[in-house]
Amino acid sequence: MVKTVLVTGGAGFIGSHTCVELLESNISVICVDDLSNSKQSVVDRIKSITGKELSFHKLNVCDETQLDRIFEMYDIDAVIHFAGYKAVGQSVEKPLMYYQNNLNSTITLLKCMAKHNVNRIVFSSSATVYGVPKVVPMNETADTWCTNPYGWTKYMSEQIIKDWCVATPNASAILLRYFNPIGAHFSGLIGEDPNGIPNNLLPYICQVAAGKLEYLRVFGDDYDTADGTGVRDYIHVVDLAKGHLKALEYIDANKGCQCVNLGTGKGYSVLDVVKAYQTACGIDIPYRIYPRRSGDIATSYADPKKAYELLGWKAERDLNDMCASAYNWQKMNPNGYGD
Ligand code: WQD
Repeated sequence: MVKTVLVTGGAGFIGSHTCVELLESNISVICVDDLSNSKQSVVDRIKSITGKELSFHKLNVCDETQLDRIFEMYDIDAVIHFAGYKAVGQSVEKPLMYYQNNLNSTITLLKCMAKHNVNRIVFSSSATVYGVPKVVPMNETADTWCTNPYGWTKYMSEQIIKDWCVATPNASAILLRYFNPIGAHFSGLIGEDPNGIPNNLLPYICQVAAGKLEYLRVFGDDYDTADGTGVRDYIHVVDLAKGHLKALEYIDANKGCQCVNLGTGKGYSVLDVVKAYQTACGIDIPYRIYPRRSGDIATSYADPKKAYELLGWKAERDLNDMCASAYNWQKMNPNGYGD
């Protein structure tokens, strides 16, 4: 029975939503985060939402001395590992920083787990490991070939965890490959808070809706898709968080290492999302067509069958919920957590 979970990167977008779901399931949470891409106020908001306490320690998971101290302090049953840099474009400009941080954190974490006989882990991976898919929808047997250092750090961390599982008796791991997480908790107290001008579609649209940005740049309308714009599998961040609880249940009862896609199985184009956002929020989103963004693929969406068959999980929230919750977060937090 998993009673206490260490959540690395627990003050981040997906990490914070997962901490809420863990606490609401009466699981104790130890949250560690270096706050390089998040704010400590997130921890207070998690407490406000749940009415429950959680332990927070500011640290970088690469710091073995500090991390070991956490394993000494708490009786940890399992780990959910979110901590890592995640900006695709930045990873191309600074590959060594990404390999150093994202791989070193995974290796350091596994070393501390081994030392303290903690042998259950859920890893935050990404559909980025599929690169340019030969077939859509993608299932977990699809070819993996990354197109940027960020994706490679996810793929390599998966391999490190797989090999650790083989070498560790009773080890159990789930590698969750997220498609496109968007939206926010219905309370509007936690959400996606990108640094500077957002790279990703939905936070950018939210800032256009809020009047912080003039219009959306639609990167390419000449893809081989229904309306020419890029198609993605958008998944509500709360559905994603709930998927982590199902993964914990699975690794509590099973050994070995499994890759699982977390997606809805539906693909929506950029213009589909713009229309859905306008309908959900009653706000016009002006846009202009721009050239394709380098590194983008035309179409990506999941075959979610394995998540349902193995974990008993499927996404329940629709695109309207995703857009409305994202807008609610934006309205309540015009400057993100910076307020
Ligand atoms: C979605 C679509 C763009 C912004 C990213 C990460 C990936 C994963 C999920 C972590 C594409 C178009 C976007 C804009 C646009 N994150 N777009 N104008 O690139 O699918 O994946 O998030 O694992 O690693 O790369 O998401 O939101 O950036 O783009 O037209 O201002 O929206 O071309 O078709 P992406 P995205």
